[in-house]
Amino acid sequence: MCGIVGYIGTQTATDILIGGLERLEYRGYDSAGIATVLEGKIECTRAKGKLHNLREKLEREVNPSQIGIGHTRWATHGKPEEHNAHPHMDAGGRIAVVQNGIIENYQELREELSDKGYQFVSETDTEVIPHLIAHLLPQNPQYDDFLQAMQKAIHRLNGAFAIAVICADYPDEIIVARNQAPLIIGFGQGEFFCASDVTAVVSHTHAVLSLENGEIARLTPLGVEVYDFDLKRLRKLPRTLDWNLTTVEKQGFRHFMLKEIYEQPSVVRSCLETYVQANWHPQTNSDSSPIDLGLASELCDNVDYIQIVACGTSWNASMVGKYLLEQVAGIPTMVQYASEFRYSPSPMLANTLTIGVTQSGETADTLAALEMEKQRRMGLEFPYDARILGITNRPESTLAHMVDRIINTQAGIEIGVAATKSFTAQLMGFYFLALELAYRRRHLSLDKIEGLIKGLGQLPGQIELILEKQGTQIEELAHDFMETQDFIFLGRGINFPIALEGALKLKEISYIHAEGYPAGEMKHGPIALLDAKVPVVAIAMPGVVHDKVLSNAQEAKARDARLIGVTPIDDTEARSTFDDLLFVPHVEELLSPIIAVIPLQLLAYHIAARRGLDVDQPRNLAKSVTVE
Ligand code: F6R
Repeated sequence: MCGIVGYIGTQTATDILIGGLERLEYRGYDSAGIATVLEGKIECTRAKGKLHNLREKLEREVNPSQIGIGHTRWATHGKPEEHNAHPHMDAGGRIAVVQNGIIENYQELREELSDKGYQFVSETDTEVIPHLIAHLLPQNPQYDDFLQAMQKAIHRLNGAFAIAVICADYPDEIIVARNQAPLIIGFGQGEFFCASDVTAVVSHTHAVLSLENGEIARLTPLGVEVYDFDLKRLRKLPRTLDWNLTTVEKQGFRHFMLKEIYEQPSVVRSCLETYVQANWHPQTNSDSSPIDLGLASELCDNVDYIQIVACGTSWNASMVGKYLLEQVAGIPTMVQYASEFRYSPSPMLANTLTIGVTQSGETADTLAALEMEKQRRMGLEFPYDARILGITNRPESTLAHMVDRIINTQAGIEIGVAATKSFTAQLMGFYFLALELAYRRRHLSLDKIEGLIKGLGQLPGQIELILEKQGTQIEELAHDFMETQDFIFLGRGINFPIALEGALKLKEISYIHAEGYPAGEMKHGPIALLDAKVPVVAIAMPGVVHDKVLSNAQEAKARDARLIGVTPIDDTEARSTFDDLLFVPHVEELLSPIIAVIPLQLLAYHIAARRGLDVDQPRNLAKSVTVE
């Protein structure tokens, strides 16, 4: 959801900014722009559409400036046109601003500034900021005046935002501010960076500082000063990222999404290595939990209810989580869309664990829902106290700072906008949580727990097998759906959320309309959609609902739908039901979602890739949705 970047140092700013924007393009790609200070003037270049349009424009210019800011946009206020692209400037052309977030009171500010004679040239909320700073900056500015004008401007803004500003009168300063939208500062040798995400700076430095909400920083060639919004100086130290560049490169794959699908065996392996106690045995180790998530007893003992808030794919993962927490740990669990929960929360119950699930760790709705839960339980004592757990692959994210504890799902950053490895990693997080709670509550026998852990241990090899054996076949099958306009995905029980996820993957990257449905519900409405033009994908994994899913699939077949089945290789009944088969290994029902989702990810990927679509950056979407 918009990416911002800034650079000050000794290298050519344009190159660094473009490199940074490339790494942030997954956050938005409606337009892009950069501004630098050169010979006492702001040079601003912007272009509609993807970054290559901006790059082409910049190739025509020579700009040795060593300070600048850049932006890649996901449009909120105002169409994705060049005049709405960031950076935005004041009328005098002395101040340039990039922003990620939403300025909620921009209309009021716009009217106030217009009445004072400031002319607006865009429809954006951001444009009020340069005018406001210009208005607050004295005629003959002195050393601290830029910082002070920025601080006063910030006090006038409502909303969630991360901002970076340069001013032609201060050629050695970038001022940045953060309120509810991510912003990090990178520390190099005599050079400093700011960005919405560490991906933008990781090729230059591993020393980063995440600004907290309510903080302003001044970046100069000499260093970084951090203040609170009242300009009280704060002492902050950067931390070192344990990252390598391979995460943010395609490594020979055609798309990040495909690379990330193929990374899933190693992600699952790394989860197992991190959280499963090696050589645990029910007889010899019954006194210690086989899973160690590092959860304090205040957080997860005496839990009578669990409520999970999440969005999109993370919500789908949470639905599998609900099933696991109820079936494995025996705890009633509700899953809520964060965007709904924040305005209509369910009644406050005692002994409740709240879980926020988000791959980016920055989704505005999820963070707001958790904050709301924290606030309404603020000051309440046990058993009504707030207990909040996060599940994310971004341990440095805002989520991680606001919850009592996170489960780091070990997936690392995901660049493809469609979530794949982060989803399977979230499922792993839920398996571990459910098993640890089951152990603590003695809800499952130790032998059963051991059996499930053994099953989890087989998953990396089983996923590898699907990728190896099914990759090419699914690619060929995808060819048949070039003209298809609608798809239905069916699943039941623990695989109903996988039907939802299969449909979400397909629609978001191929733009084919797809619906996920609980298989038994099809006859209550969606069956009316079926004919020979609407393929039906059914997830028929062994377990209590296996035969029911096959019967539901037959109902679709009777309406001429082409039937595609996700099913084990040895399932002869399923083989005779389906027209096309996406084979998977035979696994126990509770573990089947992680196996069943892999062919669906591949199917969505290959259909979109065959259609020649921009798989990693599908239209209208963004990886990190930091606005409401
Ligand atoms: C779909 C997808 C989105 C996200 C949703 C929540 O592939 O990625 O549906 O799952 O925007 O994002 P996070 O998980 O970052 O909170």
